[in-house]
Amino acid sequence: MSTAASGPAAPAAPDADAWRLCVAPMLDWTDRHCRSFHRLLSPHARLYTEMVTTGALLHGDAARHLDFDAGEHPLALQLGGSDPDELARCARLGERWGYDEINLNCGCPSERVQRGAFGACLMAEPRLVADCVRAMRAAVAIPVTVKQRIGIDQSEDYAFVRDFVAANHAAGCAVFIVHARNAWLKGLSPRENRERPPLRHEVVRQLKRDFPGAIIVLNGGLADPQQAQAALEGVDGVMVGRMAYEEPARLAQLDARLFGGPPVDPAAVLEPLSGYLRRAVAQGARPWSVIRHTLGLFHGRPGARQWRRSLSDPHFVAEHGVDALRRAAEHSGVLLARGHAQAPAAH
Ligand SMILES: Cc1cc2nc3c(=O)[nH]c(=O)nc-3n(C[C@H](O)[C@H](O)[C@H](O)COP(=O)(O)O)c2cc1C
Repeated sequence: MSTAASGPAAPAAPDADAWRLCVAPMLDWTDRHCRSFHRLLSPHARLYTEMVTTGALLHGDAARHLDFDAGEHPLALQLGGSDPDELARCARLGERWGYDEINLNCGCPSERVQRGAFGACLMAEPRLVADCVRAMRAAVAIPVTVKQRIGIDQSEDYAFVRDFVAANHAAGCAVFIVHARNAWLKGLSPRENRERPPLRHEVVRQLKRDFPGAIIVLNGGLADPQQAQAALEGVDGVMVGRMAYEEPARLAQLDARLFGGPPVDPAAVLEPLSGYLRRAVAQGARPWSVIRHTLGLFHGRPGARQWRRSLSDPHFVAEHGVDALRRAAEHSGVLLARGHAQAPAAH
């Protein structure tokens, strides 16, 4: 495959610091409520939407997919698709809606996505992806970025991933978020595809050496803040997914490690989170749609199990509605256990 550049020259790299800490796009998880919750814990992280397909945006309820809270910035819209014209239209829509970045999914291995001929199988079609990047870049002024794997199926051929990046860098993509695993396209569920293919962080570092002018963000298997900070060595940023979702306090710790200052204490989040819950419900959300993202907030701390158990109980949530978080905090003692004598302010 040729790596020769064609089309517009690669743009000057945007501010690399903007991608220093990213929270991964996660289908069914990083919806707008989750992102607002993460923002309370991490003032600096760049947040990503769940993948939204071009079909859903162009033929479905665009507002439902695109609306977000102003506090979520910096915020990227992740698109799934492989038609340059449709992607360009969706990118324009995203820019008008106020997103800070358009990210193209070239890493999702699900069979449904493969049937739609996008996601990870696009890695086998670097020219098509480069056409998509060019079309989106021509449509918007915000950065157009790619999220990808390091290979597909069993191949460990470095030239494959290098040529993919080269083609897209030449097409004007300056930022590559690289999940440091292959995607095995046959026989594994998406979940297994996040666990079984071996992690090879060194491939991502090699990409940074080969493309020093690109912003390279390392993703995959970063399980604690110390490890994630160490993983920054030799790349421009780290993206964390499951760690941020399952143990949100670790996201706060990682933010503090990378940007300074004390980490946001989970207990300090309760009051603004309750305010957010109240506003969301006033706008028509169900309490559970916000609460479900917060079950891990006190993970590993005294009272965590009771907090999770109370909020997982549909009767508890139905009974307390917008007060459920405050009541669960009282019930579980998570604030007292941290030496916070007072309950969060009543609203
Ligand atoms: C529940 C779930 C849903 C995901 N959905 C997406 C998605 O919509 N788009 C995407 O590019 N990656 C998706 N991913 C992959 C993550 O973005 C990330 O690449 C992967 O989880 C590895 O990072 P981690 O080890 O820090 O979790 C998803 C992961 C999970 C756990």
